[in-house]
Order: sequence, then structure tokens, then C-alpha cells
Amino acid sequence: MSRTGDARVFAIVPAAGSGRRMGAEVPKQYLELAGRTVIEHTLARIAGHAAVVRVAIAIAADDARFAALAPQLPDACRVVTGGAERCHSVLAGLDALADEATDDDWALVHDAARPCVRSTDIDTMIEALAGHAVGGILAAPVRDTLKRCDADGNIEATVDRNALWHALTPQMFRFGALRRALRAALDAGELVTDEAQAIERSGLVPRVVAGHADNIKITHPADLALAELILAAQARA
Ligand code: C5P
Repeated sequence: MSRTGDARVFAIVPAAGSGRRMGAEVPKQYLELAGRTVIEHTLARIAGHAAVVRVAIAIAADDARFAALAPQLPDACRVVTGGAERCHSVLAGLDALADEATDDDWALVHDAARPCVRSTDIDTMIEALAGHAVGGILAAPVRDTLKRCDADGNIEATVDRNALWHALTPQMFRFGALRRALRAALDAGELVTDEAQAIERSGLVPRVVAGHADNIKITHPADLALAELILAAQARA
């Protein structure tokens, strides 16, 4: 059981992407993975987490697939209409939960396209951030040597990787601060690609919490086969 002090955890699952990079007819959150859709795996891990009191799932306005899953959703789930970019979808989720959440509660945002997140990594993040004023993100240290190149692929420099991390999700921030930061970014015309970026531009300092690199985002078709291997390995562990 995770300890969060008095703050409750409200989850937002952005699931309104069209999955252009997959090149598939079906958006990636609805592709089949080990007998269920990607989003069903994700929701089982987020809505099923003991610390999560409510989940807002942001789906596309023209989504005709989610309705088939809705009857099996836990009571804690609310469905909202997402927006043009991920940041719009997350803000729609926050808006839908704002009646219930206080400014100091936690907003935990997790991509529908990351079905392999470990419940124990969510525990680790919640424990590490308990009492933190701002919040933070699950992240994995960069392992490979990094090269900066010009437009023609000529290597210009080797980048020091020691201070570099891959930003994963969940990302967990104080509810009120995240909602204000995302609104401010959108009002300024900045389409932030994660929650931390919105928090950073508002002058606050989030932290990273080391998570497992098997928390992959389904982006390309080959990722589905890898996710299947990861789920099987997790089930054996
Ligand atoms: O496309 P990308 O991999 O960045 O998407 C990350 C997550 O954000 C996915 O779960 C996707 O469904 C979601 N998303 C969204 N609304 C959008 C675009 C993406 O909820 N307009």
C-alpha cells in the first residue's frame, strides 16, 4: 500500500491519439496485445492501483471503439473528450476531476500507450514524492552514447549522457499547480509534450524518480511484439 500523506491520487489517462506513426487503421491504444487491447492493460494497472481514487480517460471525439470497453470499466473511471494534442487531452481530464480534487491532491498522468508500467514503479514514485511540494516523473537514465548531428547526419559532437534521462509516465504533480501550468502553456501557444515541461515553464522544479525501462510506449508496430515479451516476463517474475 502506497503512502501519500493526506493527498489523494487522481489519475488521468490520455487516450485520444490517432496513432499516425503506427501506420495502422486502428489507433494504437486499441491494438491487440496478449489477448486484450493495449488500453485495457493500461487501465487495469492504473485503475487497479490501490492509491488511485479516480481515473479520467480522455478519448477522441470521434472514438467509436471505447464504448465497447466501457461496461467493464471500474466504477472509479470517468470518460472525457480529449483534444487535438496530448496536452489538450490531459487538461480535459484535469478539468473533469477538478470538482472533486483539491489543489494539493496528486494528478497522476499516464499514457494509454504504456501498457507495461509496473505497479511497483508506481509505488516507488508515490513513496519518493510523498510530501514533495511539486512532484515528478518516472524516468530512466540514458544508457547509450549520444551524438548530436547536422541535418546531413554528420556527427558534430558527443553529448555527455550523465545528466540525461528518458522521461516516462506516470508523471505526478500537485493537481492545482499542474492544471494552472498546462492552462498557461496552452494560453501561450506552447504545446508541451509532457506535464513536467508545463511545470518547468511555470518556474517550479520537478524531480525524476528512477523507473524500469520496460515501461515502453507503443509507438511503432514492432513495439507490440516487444510489449508482449515484457508482459510475459513480468507475469513470470
Ligand atoms: O502520440 P503519443 O505517443 O505522444 O501519445 C501519447 C499518449 O497521448 C497516447 O496514449 C495518446 O493516445 C495520447 N494522446 C491524446 N490526445 C492526443 C494525442 C495523444 O490523449 N491528441
